[in-house]
Amino acid sequence: MSLRVTDVKMLLGGRLVEGGISIQDGRISRIGKTLHLPKSETNIDGKGLIAIPGLIDVHVHLRDMELAYKEDFSSGTLAAAAGGFTTILDMPNTKPPTTSEERLREKIERAKATIHVNVGFYGALAESAIELRAMIHAGAIAFKLYMNEPNPEAWHHDPRRLLSSLEESASLGVQVACHAETGAEVAKIQRECQAEGKNSVRDFLRAHAPEFEAEAVRRITSLSRRVRASVHLCHMSTQRALKEISIARRAGTAVTCEATPHHLLLDQKDLSRKGGLAIMVPPLRKTSDARALWRSLAEGRVDVVASDHAPHSLEEKTATDVWAVKPGIPGLETTLPLLLTRVKRREISLNRIVQALAENPARIFGLPGKGRLAAGTDGDIVLINPKERFKIDSSTFYSKARFSPFDGLECVGRPVTTIVSGRIVYDRGEIVEKNRGEVVTSEVRPRSSSSTAC
Ligand code: NCD
Ligand code: ZN
Ligand code: ZN
Ligand code: ZN
Repeated sequence: MSLRVTDVKMLLGGRLVEGGISIQDGRISRIGKTLHLPKSETNIDGKGLIAIPGLIDVHVHLRDMELAYKEDFSSGTLAAAAGGFTTILDMPNTKPPTTSEERLREKIERAKATIHVNVGFYGALAESAIELRAMIHAGAIAFKLYMNEPNPEAWHHDPRRLLSSLEESASLGVQVACHAETGAEVAKIQRECQAEGKNSVRDFLRAHAPEFEAEAVRRITSLSRRVRASVHLCHMSTQRALKEISIARRAGTAVTCEATPHHLLLDQKDLSRKGGLAIMVPPLRKTSDARALWRSLAEGRVDVVASDHAPHSLEEKTATDVWAVKPGIPGLETTLPLLLTRVKRREISLNRIVQALAENPARIFGLPGKGRLAAGTDGDIVLINPKERFKIDSSTFYSKARFSPFDGLECVGRPVTTIVSGRIVYDRGEIVEKNRGEVVTSEVRPRSSSSTAC
């Protein structure tokens, strides 16, 4: 099976180069002048389009199983394809949660038959070293730690116990992705508010105070530094947290971080306008925080943009009591257009966007065949039209979560064609071919020889 994209602009080594790409048996076989490419079974005329590597979203909640009413493997991966994402990493806070090797295996088995882009899976960071090893053995890409767990008795609120899990993750050579909010503190304020019948957006913001994010960043980076673990901080939202990251980096901590389009582009004014539809954790912050995040992204201190695609039903988003609103918004189908719009406005370069959405995710999460256009890498490619204008309309989403705080916003630039392993999965609004996704596992390079058979 061969496919060719001809007369396209390609983002290569940070520059746009005119030419074409050949894909043979799922991999890029050649990149060069269109005239020099071999004939192929399928040809895509790339005139007016730009070819970039298939994007990687390292923070997606595909749900499925008992939460399939919010999203399932099929709807979530169709949304990914429509948004230009060819590989996504699924979070473990599902029902049931991905807390053991067995749970992970069940998930992978179920996903195999129904995914339309590539999917990798997080396992929940566990206390047991045996369980951690078993989850990696079963295919987990990385671990996820929810520091915002409200129960103060949770094992990982004990620094000593957390330290040993971080140490084991380090020896396995995998990332620990982290939700950085101190859960016990957030929960305490929430309980007080609820007891006093305070249930407005303002109260929600008070519970999810900026200092709880900064404090969580401080805690996790100082622990991970001690055992040389690699921590990836999810959805950073405040200037203060960014500052903590700089301090940790100067002290030699291996820490990477991500920002979402909503924290980059929206703020608390949008929250008061949109209410529950703009509730997520961490919440939208001040304009100055969004600006600081944007600057850090443009300058390369924010490594990754991830959507934190967190689908919920419309009922769950429109409860009048703020504590009853499920936090999270869908993002797979809006992330790339929102960022391309800023490229068009010259607020950031296309190259920087592709680093944050493809190159860096591949490097940080150990996906060597992905994240760049080069001969020998996986045939995952997105063709974008940098000039197409359209309005975000959540009623057209492939995701089951048909709402967005970005609804009605005018964008310039969108994905036109999404190619997974050399097959056209999505083209101009339509799904062309299904079930082309594969389960991806991490290229694990153990740092110490913990040679326990399992
Ligand atoms: C996420 C969800 O719904 O699973 N919600 C959110 O607001 N971000 C959980 C999370 O990413 O913390
Ligand atoms: Zn989170
Ligand atoms: Zn999330
Ligand atoms: Zn095993």
